[in-house]
Amino acid sequence: MTRTAALKVLAGKKLTDLAPTELAGALAAAERVLVDVGTGDARTAYRQAVAHPEWLVIGVDPAWQRMTETAVRAARKPAKGGAPNLVLVSSAIETVPAALHGVADEVTVLMPWGKLLRGVVLGETDVLSGLRAVAKPGAPLEISIGTSIWRDPIPLEIRDLPELTPEAVASTGLADRLAALGWQLADVRLVPHTELDTISSSWARRLGSGATETVLHLRAIAVDPRDPVRPQDAAAEPGQDAAGEPQRDV
Ligand SMILES: C[S@@+](CC[C@H](N)C(=O)[O-])C[C@H]1O[C@@H](n2cnc3c(N)ncnc32)[C@H](O)[C@@H]1O
Repeated sequence: MTRTAALKVLAGKKLTDLAPTELAGALAAAERVLVDVGTGDARTAYRQAVAHPEWLVIGVDPAWQRMTETAVRAARKPAKGGAPNLVLVSSAIETVPAALHGVADEVTVLMPWGKLLRGVVLGETDVLSGLRAVAKPGAPLEISIGTSIWRDPIPLEIRDLPELTPEAVASTGLADRLAALGWQLADVRLVPHTELDTISSSWARRLGSGATETVLHLRAIAVDPRDPVRPQDAAAEPGQDAAGEPQRDV
């Protein structure tokens, strides 16, 4: 008998298993579910949770030790800064547990690095599929990357990565890879620091009022992976549905 991998979450400074019934209760009670992938120290996720107590905010990051300070704060009573609607999950997005599949009304990726950055810049299947797996159909994916990472001194780990620009999204085939994996590109643009609050006041705050960063912002919508890339299938073979295709677990 196979068992679903447990959801490893932060409870204060420790990692613990979240009972499926507890997660189900939190999901059912939430007006909206935001999944912040590569949440880092989880301060942005915490701010979102405090600002929207009716939401469930789920931060996902494999480097769980960096989330402990925020987890301790979130575990306090709400009157003392607690955020019972914040769940911090220890996981890489490419191996995100099934318990989080199809839960998100919105997915955010803010200032990614490492595998997450490579995955979104190159359109790697494991990362884009992991992001798609957590999303509900129609959910937006909001990716923000500070463009200064492509200015000298460029971090060693991204020297071989093409700079992500609005033009590159089309010319490198990233838009097609997104579409093939269930993400339809809705918008991609460079947002100057003076306009950061037009994409998110929380992100603007995260970067600080003195920031001069221009941010590459990419927005995509969770769709059926086949729709945007092979619309001719429906016309060419009327009556044939997805039966011949492996179904996604979303
Ligand atoms: C620069 S930090 C940004 C943190 C946060 N989003 C913020 O804006 O403060 C990038 C984060 O991406 C996480 N990350 C890298 N690869 C990842 C992956 N495959 N899945 C999920 N998170 C990943 C890292 O552990 C790191 O915490």
